[in-house]
Amino acid sequence: MAKLDILEFPDPRLRLKAEAVETFDADLKRLADDMLETMYAAPGIGLAATQVNLPKQLLVVDVSEAHDSPLVLVNPELREGRGTEVCQEGCLSFPGVYADVQRKEWIRVQARDVTGRSFELEADGMLAVCIQHEMDHLVGKVFVDYLSPLKRSLLLRKLDKQRRHAG
Ligand code: NI
Repeated sequence: MAKLDILEFPDPRLRLKAEAVETFDADLKRLADDMLETMYAAPGIGLAATQVNLPKQLLVVDVSEAHDSPLVLVNPELREGRGTEVCQEGCLSFPGVYADVQRKEWIRVQARDVTGRSFELEADGMLAVCIQHEMDHLVGKVFVDYLSPLKRSLLLRKLDKQRRHAG
C-alpha cells in the first residue's frame, strides 16, 4: 500500500467531475486500499478519488472510532434522502478549518464494491453526512460552496493563515 498526495483547495483539479468506473480490477482494489491508508493517516473519515487527483467515481469512508469499518463506494448514486441536519464538517483538502453544513439526515445510496458487485446502503448520522460530502467531491463540489459569501471568505482567510503558520 502507498500513501497518496491529497490536493488542497483551491487546486482546480478539485473541480473536475469524476468519471464512472468501468473496470473492476486489481488496480481499482489497490487504489481503494491506498485511499483508505491515506485517509487513516491524515487522519480523516472520508476521502474521494478526486482529492488524490484521480477523477473516478470512487470514495472511501470510515466513521468508526476504531477504524475498523471501512466502506468503499464505487459509482455511488443517491436514491433517496430525508430530513435535514446541520453538522460541523471538515475536509482533508481544507486542513484545519471547519464549518456547519446542512445535509440530508437519512440517505439511501446505490453503489458498487471494488469487485463490481452492486449494493444498497442506508445511512444516517455522521455516516450519512460523510457520504454526502464525499459524493459532492465526485461532481467537483466542496463543502465551502454551501456557505454564504461572508462565511466562506472568513473561512478561506483562516485557511490561508493556517498555511502560513504551517510554513
Ligand atoms: Ni472533503
